[in-house]
Amino acid sequence: MDAYFRLDGIRKAFGGHEAVKGVSIDIRRGEVFSLLGPSGCGKTTLLRIAAGLEAPDAGGVFLDGEEITGLPPERRRINTVFQSYALFPHMSVWDNVAFGPRVARRAEAALRPDVGRMLEMVGLAGRAEARPRQLSGGERQRVALARALINRPQVLLLDEPLAALDRKLRQRMLLELDRIHDEVGITFLYVTHDQEEAMSLSDRIAVMNAGRVEQIGTPAEVYERPASRFVAEFIGDTNLMEGVVLDGAAGGVRRLEIPGLGEVLAARGRDSGAGERVLVSVRPEKLHVSRGSLPPGSGRNVIRGRVEDVSYRGAETRYWVRAGALRIAVVEQNARLQHGERPPTWDESVWVGWHADDAFVIGSPAGGETG
Ligand SMILES: Nc1ncnc2c1ncn2[C@@H]1O[C@H](COP(=O)(O)OP(=O)(O)OP(=O)(O)O)[C@@H](O)[C@H]1O
Ligand SMILES: [Mg+2]
Repeated sequence: MDAYFRLDGIRKAFGGHEAVKGVSIDIRRGEVFSLLGPSGCGKTTLLRIAAGLEAPDAGGVFLDGEEITGLPPERRRINTVFQSYALFPHMSVWDNVAFGPRVARRAEAALRPDVGRMLEMVGLAGRAEARPRQLSGGERQRVALARALINRPQVLLLDEPLAALDRKLRQRMLLELDRIHDEVGITFLYVTHDQEEAMSLSDRIAVMNAGRVEQIGTPAEVYERPASRFVAEFIGDTNLMEGVVLDGAAGGVRRLEIPGLGEVLAARGRDSGAGERVLVSVRPEKLHVSRGSLPPGSGRNVIRGRVEDVSYRGAETRYWVRAGALRIAVVEQNARLQHGERPPTWDESVWVGWHADDAFVIGSPAGGETG
């Protein structure tokens, strides 16, 4: 893999507290790469080290084959967009965007077409004379983006740039960011604690937990093949079932005993031997709930349960089904309902089914371990 922007063995402690515990990441040229993890896991610290705003205790930062660990921020071709827009309030939109090139002493006549083009790109050509306070949150964030991109950085760092926006605006800005990335082709390192943002924007994601990277992969990889319990629970919702392997055909279908549920089949995930205790992850949308019996088939798991909760969400309905000691979450698309069909309701006895191919074996129940 051709690493373009690389963080290698980064460590950083504040006082006695280790915020980043040896993180290595290779980002490809032109990639949108996200750091995703809960509050306090070290995302901003890593980003500040990438930007040169903070020095690592150990490890190096490399850009396009050169070590830049010791370079001050202004000598790196890296720009940052922060959560709070950090615009100059007394300057017009135009002057905010022109700020970087002016500091770099570019001639006014030469920078004018650039500023115009940037404002065009972020859809603010008509607001050049406005002050930041006259703009909406989304518009301000687009000015911040234009102001960073006009410096033609090799890498753009974005630290929760959409966190202050409401959900609808965030979704629109994500599409905008995607389009702008296609247009400029710059490498993006995007920090967020919002898995939906990371999933919809990124080519690849590093899932972080307590100063470490737990898994690096495409959005589909981290969702479909979580490397640890933490990843399975942090990315989307999942059902975790703890059990013992009865027989562990390598790479094939494994038979497991889940206390209270009986025997279930799991076809994917980590190889494990007979007698081993494992966790199985099944995403709620992979399960089906039915009042009538579900058709048996090879590789299909079917169990009996009782509906404890139902939550109608418009596009989908969520069920929580009690089966032995487990409370199983099921998501059904409402579009699947046939005319006249009555969905299961509260306290009804139901069948819950899922295919062995959708059951993913994760390491031991103890947690963090990867396969
Ligand atoms: N300058 C500092 N001095 C002392 N501790 C710090 C400093 N900066 C960060 N920390 C600590 O390091 C840890 C990681 O912080 P960091 O800001 O990198 O987390 P984060 O993943 O960006 O979280 P959030 O999602 O809340 O922004 C936290 O425990 C934080 O309190
Ligand atoms: Mg942060």
